[in-house]
This record gives sequence, structure tokens and C-alpha cells, in this order.
Amino acid sequence: MVRRIAILGSTGSIGRNALRVIEGLGEGYSVFALSANSKVELLAEQARAFGAKVVAITDASCRGRLVDLLGGLDVEILSGSESLAALAQLDEVDTVVTAIVGAAGLSAVLAAAKKGKRLAIANKEPLVVAGELLMAEAARSGSEILPVDSEHSAIFQAMQTGKRTEVAKIILTASGGPFLKLSGQEMEDVTLEQALAHPTWDMGPKVTIDSATMMNKALEIIEARWLFDVPVERIEVLIHPESIVHSLVEFVDGSVIGQLGEPDMCLPIQYALTYPDRLAGRARAPQLAEIGRLNFSKPDGEVFRALPLAYEVCRAGGTAAAVFNAANEAAVEEFLAGKIRFVNILELVEDCLNRHDVKTGVSLEELLEADAWARRQVSALTCST
Ligand SMILES: NC(=O)c1ccc[n+]([C@@H]2O[C@H](COP(=O)([O-])OP(=O)(O)OC[C@H]3O[C@@H](n4cnc5c(N)ncnc54)[C@H](OP(=O)(O)O)[C@@H]3O)[C@@H](O)[C@H]2O)c1
Repeated sequence: MVRRIAILGSTGSIGRNALRVIEGLGEGYSVFALSANSKVELLAEQARAFGAKVVAITDASCRGRLVDLLGGLDVEILSGSESLAALAQLDEVDTVVTAIVGAAGLSAVLAAAKKGKRLAIANKEPLVVAGELLMAEAARSGSEILPVDSEHSAIFQAMQTGKRTEVAKIILTASGGPFLKLSGQEMEDVTLEQALAHPTWDMGPKVTIDSATMMNKALEIIEARWLFDVPVERIEVLIHPESIVHSLVEFVDGSVIGQLGEPDMCLPIQYALTYPDRLAGRARAPQLAEIGRLNFSKPDGEVFRALPLAYEVCRAGGTAAAVFNAANEAAVEEFLAGKIRFVNILELVEDCLNRHDVKTGVSLEELLEADAWARRQVSALTCST
């Protein structure tokens, strides 16, 4: 059987790595559909190289250029934000790699889950915003959800060595980002350039900033809560600057099982595509004798406020995570645009959470309203500073 794959966000860091992995896997894995937001040239180049049958460009103003670039090819071209869900639901596609950044991927992920597709999920924000709805939809349709985030892939692999009822704790490792050793005071002077220089991972700008604030780990706590159905009290974060141990599961008998690998996203992407098989691929095993030493320590929740906030958000439930995520997305955009300072990101997120009246037992529409509310709040608060 040939796996026919759609990659949502094929022009980004995860999307490009997913194409490299598929190329390396060769026979048995083919690209059927691709999407981008505005990078038309790269999208057209990928569509030609991989023989995609359908492409989607969410920024509809780029459609004309894409039509020109793909002239003469037998490719269906979709455009606009709704095109993502259409792509994710194509009958010909069995596996959807979600590599879009932010909550913009939500409707497409839900659509793929409804249709019972295998979902290789890198795009964590939809799980954070609507994890309960998404997991329920997947359970109804039989959609397999396979994590691509290296930490969640490691947990998924470790989980296979025991029963769910035997899990005592999930331990998410974190590199700590570029500012691990800075004090709260030193954090005040951080520049955009410094925040974009991650010590171990090469990623898109939003997730790189999230790693520097440790919001990425905060979102991963919420992601793990939904993916593995574990109460948040049993999820811990452990600083591990070398990014070799990608995460661990502690079982009730005191055994701790982890997965080790080089910091290379090709490995978790490939495992999500080939599961339950393991195939030879691009990744090389870590050379432990060369690495010599692996370090672990507890994170400082006073400096990295995102971490304690993630636990509060999980306990509050309902709309809290949608606000947490959207406020962060909006604040990171402001930071990338040079409108606020690094430390303002978490201040804005916390401010939004404090102003928000959490609603529980909510629908998708109410989650989207909470998301939009948080974005408006960040914009208003930014203008007033
Ligand atoms: N990068 C990593 O190593 C890594 C590791 C673990 C998890 N993740 C997660 O994977 C996701 C993608 O991260 P990334 O680093 O690959 O991001 P990225 O490099 O910024 O790529 C984002 C992709 O999404 C598209 N996109 C952006 N805004 C969009 C919108 N509003 N509507 C539709 N498509 C949009 C982009 O299209 P254009 O190129 O046309 O703008 C691009 O294809 C994130 O959720 C991140 O947290 C990433």
C-alpha cells in the first residue's frame, strides 16, 4: 500500500523536513497535497518536485502567481483559509502532516480528524486550544493521532513499554532555550536577534521565540495532557540543555523509560509516518561516548512564568487555554515586529488571562471567540503601552 500524504504548511521548517523524510523513504510514500500561506515560489517548486496533485495557498492574493508558476501541470489549485480543511479531507489522502504554525491550523486538523485520517501532528496550537474536542473527534472516527513534537514522540514511544494505568509521571525535557542562565533582570535587555538564536534546534521564528520564553514547553504541557490523557499534576518539566533525551515516562514500579536521539526533527516526523514500523532513515544515532555528559535540572518558574501559567490554565479548563495560546501568538507577532520587548510577551499573556472570565463546557465557536478576544486584548494593551 502506498501512503498518500498531505502536508499542511509544507514551506515551513517542519514541512520542508517532512518532504526530505518522504524523499528518503522512497517507494511506499507519496506526496498528494501541499499547502503554504504566501511562499508561492517554494510551494510551486515543491509541487513540481514531488508531483503533488492538489496545492492550497491560504493567502488568496497569491493565487494568480501560483497559477502562473504551475501553468501546464495537472495540479488542482485551492486558495483562501477554507482551502486547508478541504485539503485535509481529500479522499485520496490517508495521512495529514500538520505543520502550520499557530491556531490557524485548527479547522483543518479537526476536519482531518473527522474524516478518520492518520494525523502526524507538529502544529501543537490546535491541540492546546481545542484538545478535548479534537481527541473526541479522533476517537469517534478512529483517526490515529501521532505526535511529531520530539518530546511527545518520545513519550508516545516510551508509553508502548507499559500500560496507561501503570504511568506514574510524564517528564517533558526542555533545552531551556538561549536564556536558560539569565536572571529575570537580565532578561529585560534581550534582543530579537538573541531570542531567535536557539542553541540546539533550527525552527521557524514563532516556535523559536516560544522556546526562548519557555512558552513552547508550556504549550507542550497542555498538548501532553490531551494527547496522553494524563492529569496535569502528573506532567513535569526537566531542563536538559543537550536535547538528546527527548522526554521520559516514569512507571509505577520506579522504571523511567526515555527516548534518545540527535536534535533532528526528521526522526519524529519519520516515526509518525512509518508507525508502527521503524525504517532506516536520515537520522544518525547519538554518539554517547562523544557527548560524554548529559545534564538535568529543575526549571525556574519565577523566571519562566509560562510554566506555572500552563498548570493554572489546565486546571481552569474551558476557554483558558485558547486565551493563553492566542495572547501568546499575538504578543510574539508584536515582538517579531519590533513593537514590544521580550519580557512584555509573558506580561501580556498573564494580563490577558487575568482579565478573562473562563467559560467551561464550551463549543468550538466559543473557543474561537475567546481566541479572537485575546488577540484584541493584546493589540489594545500594546497600543496603550
Ligand atoms: N520547527 C520545529 O522544529 C518544530 C518542532 C516541534 C514542533 N513544531 C511545531 O510545528 C509547527 C510549525 O512550526 P515551524 O517551525 O515549521 O513553522 P514555520 O517554519 O514558521 O512554518 C509555518 C508554516 O505554516 C504556514 N503558515 C503560516 N501562517 C499560516 C496561516 N495563517 N495559514 C496557513 N498557513 C500558514 C507557512 O506558510 P508560508 O511559508 O507560506 O508562510 C509555513 O508553511 C508549529 O506549531 C510548531 O510549534 C515545530
